[in-house]
Amino acid sequence: MTIIPRCSSLFFRPIRLVRKRTLVLWTFAFTGCVLFYNWVNTEYGNPYGLNYFLDDGGAPGSLEYVVDTEHCKILKLSPWEPAILDFIKPKITPPDCSQRNNGRKWVYVKNSKICINDTAVIASGYSMSSVRCCYKGIIRVTQTLENFDLNADNQVEYTSTCTPLEKVTPLPDHDFARVFCTSTSWPYLGEVVYREFVAIPKARKAESLAKVAYWATRRDLTRPLPPSVVMLGIDSLSRMNYHRSFNLTKTFLDGIGAVEMMGYTKVGENTFPNTAGFLTGFDPAVDPELLEGCILTRETPQDFCPYIWKRFSDANYLTATVEDAPGLVGFNYLKVGFVQEPTDFYFRPFMLQVHKSLPRKDYYHTDCIGTSTTEETLLSYISSIMSHSSSTPVFIHSWLTSLAHLDINGARFADATVTNFLSRVDLSNTILIFLSDHGQRYGAIRETLPGWYEDKLPVLSIYLPAKVKASFPTWADALALNAARLSSPFDLYQMMSHVLDAYSSREKEADGRGQPPKFDTTRARGQSLFVPISPLRRCSDAGVKTNFCACLPPKKVNASDPLVLQAAVEAVKYLNSVIPKTKCVPVVLDRVVAAAVMQNGATEGTYLVTFYTNPGQFMFEATVDFGQSGAKGQVWFNVTTDLLRMNKISRPADCVETSLLERYCYCK
Ligand SMILES: *[C@@H]1O[C@H](CO)[C@@H](O)[C@H](O)[C@H]1NC(C)=O
Ligand SMILES: *[C@@H]1O[C@H](CO)[C@@H](O)[C@H](O)[C@H]1NC(C)=O
Ligand SMILES: *[C@@H]1O[C@H](CO)[C@@H](O)[C@H](O)[C@H]1NC(C)=O
Ligand SMILES: *[C@@H]1O[C@H](CO)[C@@H](O)[C@H](O)[C@H]1NC(C)=O
Ligand SMILES: [Zn+2]
Repeated sequence: MTIIPRCSSLFFRPIRLVRKRTLVLWTFAFTGCVLFYNWVNTEYGNPYGLNYFLDDGGAPGSLEYVVDTEHCKILKLSPWEPAILDFIKPKITPPDCSQRNNGRKWVYVKNSKICINDTAVIASGYSMSSVRCCYKGIIRVTQTLENFDLNADNQVEYTSTCTPLEKVTPLPDHDFARVFCTSTSWPYLGEVVYREFVAIPKARKAESLAKVAYWATRRDLTRPLPPSVVMLGIDSLSRMNYHRSFNLTKTFLDGIGAVEMMGYTKVGENTFPNTAGFLTGFDPAVDPELLEGCILTRETPQDFCPYIWKRFSDANYLTATVEDAPGLVGFNYLKVGFVQEPTDFYFRPFMLQVHKSLPRKDYYHTDCIGTSTTEETLLSYISSIMSHSSSTPVFIHSWLTSLAHLDINGARFADATVTNFLSRVDLSNTILIFLSDHGQRYGAIRETLPGWYEDKLPVLSIYLPAKVKASFPTWADALALNAARLSSPFDLYQMMSHVLDAYSSREKEADGRGQPPKFDTTRARGQSLFVPISPLRRCSDAGVKTNFCACLPPKKVNASDPLVLQAAVEAVKYLNSVIPKTKCVPVVLDRVVAAAVMQNGATEGTYLVTFYTNPGQFMFEATVDFGQSGAKGQVWFNVTTDLLRMNKISRPADCVETSLLERYCYCK
């Protein structure tokens, strides 16, 4: 029991110094401390219940795998593993938005117009003559690439005038607006009695209109219209949690023939590296294409990064990037974001204004926008964009962070909404990609074996419409085969790239109007999922670093083994070598709590070692290669970057700038 000594050491000093403290007070404090440590340990790490790795890896043949190739064996787990059940709350209350806004829903959007619902106004006890409604547009305050500051992607304002609303009013100048209705009679005379946000995506910019015109003037109907590509992302959703939380959605997607990629493995710890992986084909930690001028500092705008929507845009697709949590968006978190709007449709200004104006569930998340949930609002915006897709192909990158980011139980709330959305939109010429970036990354669930797997294996389910299958019959076969092979976000990038190349080369042949590629993608990582993946593929071939690799089942070893201890010491040395010494306290190893070995020969392999450091009781998981060299059999260690932080970051490391150091640093 480490709790008692730790608590008494906390309180020993103050009691000696402040003599007037009573024993009662001390007892209170001491009990409080024990409860607190118990709570901390239950919530964010449970060293007593650590049950982390396979006992002996199982006898050969006794384990089942979802990916079972020469160098990649990913354990088959049930979504309902006993070790996971502890974390599943059977009863949770979804946000109830119906009573927000006094339960009023006076306006709705139809055919890109704002409409006032007389019945609803009258049902609230008003008459059409006792309220007057108007709207203010929401404007992104635009800076230039020559002259911008760190707020370039954060500034929005309302138009100064409030334009009066008729019963049906087209919204000509803005994608986003807020409606205000004022009472014109007693007892609320002059008061705003109703407010509502509306989002109506419409091609307005000259470039957007040119794309629409391109497809309108292309009269050769023998050539199929390129398919739209719609990415629907849910942050922090493992494939297994998809099974647990999105039963309706999964039933729907399976029903239309979507393929679930069971070996889809993350390539970076958190959102951004995985997003960059599928949007650029590069690894932001090492590839110069992103390292140079794109990613690493707060000051560098994202405008020049080779996000794939630029290539879709060059192929005359209407493009969109749509996210719900402006404070957590991968392009903006600890970064400046975009100085100019990156896509034809950009949802961020809308969400920024929503965040400024409405109550939030917590700092990062708003659950209701008027009487709708945030995800209903977002999906309805996307479906309006998709309504273009019968005449103009669209590329949409969308990401819902609020649901599951903090709570694996939260994902369930969106199941019906997503299914409803999918069954409403036209998917007849749309490649739908339902995906996530990683599973639950920290907390006690990570200390279970299924949690170890779920972290690394996000959901990826891909739907190919019949029209695409007819044009490219080999794609679906390859996809089905690859479902049980190791794959990564880089492969997803290559798959989308494959769609672009296949269709734009047809465009070019047909009328010579295709554009020459502006981006050098020849060095991008990965391979298209529409081409069979080699059964010999290893994590290193797929661009998956050892610390995210789920191909080698981790077999438990004695955590007191001297070699394990040495591996932990090497990992701590590594930590101390990367934290800035001027800002962070050097760390020391407190204790090793679990260890496993992955694969390999008799004399070399990889240790997974889990340990606590001081100060701060940070819990890390390190992946350390080891082997023997020289005649004397000298053991060497090689620590894989990065170390994974397994307990939550509860003490903000605001002295450092990157999310990596934030996980490592105990600020001075
Ligand atoms: C208008 O409001 C009424 C009463 O709230 C509701 O039943 C009806 O569905 C609404 N109509 C539209 C088009 O939203
Ligand atoms: C999932 O949905 C299907 C069909 O709607 C239903 O038959 C099944 O019982 C559901 N499973 C769970 C675990 O809720
Ligand atoms: C683990 O190793 C330590 C030190 O080598 C040893 O004392 C202990 O008995 C071992 N525990 C088990 C369960 O083998
Ligand atoms: C350690 O690992 C890195 C990355 O895999 C590799 O480049 C390096 O050569 C390794 N060092 C040793 C001593 O094996
Ligand atoms: Zn994420």
